Amino acid sequence: MSTSARARAAITATARHFPEAVVENRYFYETLGLDTSEEWIRSRTGIRTRHRADHKKGEITSTLGAEAARKALESRGIGADDVDCIILATVTPDLGFPSTACLVQDQISAHRAWAFDVSAACSGFVYALAQATSLVESGRHQRVLVIGADVMSAILDQEDRNTCVLFGDGAGAVLVEAVPEDHPGALGQWRLRSDGSGAEHLFRYGGGILERVREEPPEPKGWYVHQDGRTVFKLAVTRLAEVVQELLAAEGLTVGDIDLTVPHQANIRIIEAARDKLRLPPEKVMVTIGQWANTTAATIPTSLDLAVEQHRLRAGDRVMLATFGGGFTWGAMLLRWGYDT
Ligand code: UT7
Repeated sequence: MSTSARARAAITATARHFPEAVVENRYFYETLGLDTSEEWIRSRTGIRTRHRADHKKGEITSTLGAEAARKALESRGIGADDVDCIILATVTPDLGFPSTACLVQDQISAHRAWAFDVSAACSGFVYALAQATSLVESGRHQRVLVIGADVMSAILDQEDRNTCVLFGDGAGAVLVEAVPEDHPGALGQWRLRSDGSGAEHLFRYGGGILERVREEPPEPKGWYVHQDGRTVFKLAVTRLAEVVQELLAAEGLTVGDIDLTVPHQANIRIIEAARDKLRLPPEKVMVTIGQWANTTAATIPTSLDLAVEQHRLRAGDRVMLATFGGGFTWGAMLLRWGYDT
């Protein structure tokens, strides 16, 4: 651990890990017999496929997260002992406690690292990245692993067409490191927001004590995700565009200054509507919902890793992350990319 003066923090590696199994839309109407269709799912959400964890084979949040973490360290060429802290964002922790970050810390043998989870639903990764940035900028840490991992298949009601078609399983990880002043990369400013009055529109009882202590028994199927999709949809578009504009204005920038935007992937129509409101050119917005669906905390780090793989980033590029999800939680974060991809 370093105790040096204020440092600059940057992302120096990215990685992703998905379970092997791929589920196509037809699974829901052909195999499960749900009243849905290829046409509805594709046109209303943009989703074609999603990965599905094999829970019995041990594909759970910690193992997916650990694999993404290992790949990130490998791509940077450093060992797990070099990591000072692990922050993992998820809504599908392996256990009520201890945190899934602790389980990952053990699985990857990061003996020196302390580890904790962040609960901020779809915004979890950006919240966690903000915390990692502060830890490194303060000079307290050199290297923080930030992971977004979710196994949504474990908390979806497979009889509820309103939710079960929307999500996928997966994990993404980034390494946040202290870098010198003249380094082209930098994690920059952010605007993060919460509004807990939104809880009634997107939530699940399972795992929380309310399910046990309420006088009224919980609704049936308390284990599963409940979503009022229409309300969430409208707010997602408005809040996403607002918070991005607010951050740009505060930084004296315009959308023309952004080289790549990586938004949360909940629905292609949300991404397109926010994109139109902001007048962002389509080629400067990452879209992965088609193949991976909504992986909650994992959408942004996995999409960022794909951008790296597709050589879409150059040293010094300005990247905007933008998110909206359960809580409600939402926000935007600006960063400078640190290396040519
Ligand atoms: O990542 C966390 C944040 N989550 C989000 O941002 C998700 C936000 N919401 C959405 O993406 C969309 O609202 C949904 C994809 C969830 C739903 O799309 P929508 O266009 O808003 O549909 P709707 O909820 O207005 O429902 C339209 C109709 C309904 O039928 P009726 O009431 O009009 O007869 C639904 O029952 O579509 C029906 N429907 C379906 N039909 C076929 C809902 N799900 C399905 C389905 N297949 N899978």
